[in-house]
Amino acid sequence: MTSRSNVLIAPSLLSADFSRLGEEVKAVEEAGADWLHLDVMDGNFVPNITIGPLVVEAVNRCARVPLDVHLMIATPERYIKDFRSAGADILSIHPEACVHLHRALVDIRDSGMKAGVALNPSTCICAIENVLAEMDVIMVMTVNPGFGGQYFISTMFPKIRAIRKMIDESGYDILLEVDGGVGPKNSSELTQAGVNVLVAGSAVFGKPPYKTAISNIRDGEVA
Ligand code: DX5
Ligand code: ZN
Repeated sequence: MTSRSNVLIAPSLLSADFSRLGEEVKAVEEAGADWLHLDVMDGNFVPNITIGPLVVEAVNRCARVPLDVHLMIATPERYIKDFRSAGADILSIHPEACVHLHRALVDIRDSGMKAGVALNPSTCICAIENVLAEMDVIMVMTVNPGFGGQYFISTMFPKIRAIRKMIDESGYDILLEVDGGVGPKNSSELTQAGVNVLVAGSAVFGKPPYKTAISNIRDGEVA
């Protein structure tokens, strides 16, 4: 179980106002964001197209907290160096999009970033059991990646708990992150399940003031 004060909140900039991106970054940092989550989509691995290294680099120029970059792109290993140069601190890739996952994770770490693996809702946790030694973050998708503001797939709870157990039994220092449909209604159950990092887009940027939105996610709604 993760205590409320220990859980990290990572607002997803996908739901920010991109015409005022610098101001939005400052506002969520002042409101208590621990990381910033940036969603990179290529219109191939997922149906949507969003940002690339150029925008990550722009965010890096005004951000103080770590940049958690989530690559939803085909063959993500092609862009590891570009995102490192742009200022990414944590780089997460999807095994569904990457044939040589072990090599890609080693390359991410060798480039000086923390290596993350994001799992689509339908992906078995066995996709990562042979590469636990090479990763710093496991991100469980609780929506099908591609868009903000989707509903939380609550049937992912057994998977989240199974990964918590897998991490604990492995002895590796790996953070468990959850992405998609996270908000005050499910955050308590997630932290009780041992989640360390909560990504939230619409539950932060769609619910100003941001300070209240972030503390509501951190504290969770009383059941
Ligand atoms: C979905 C993205 C998420 C998304 C979360 O493909 O990976 O990070 O921005 O947005 P909400 O919190 O609105 O589900
Ligand atoms: Zn994401």
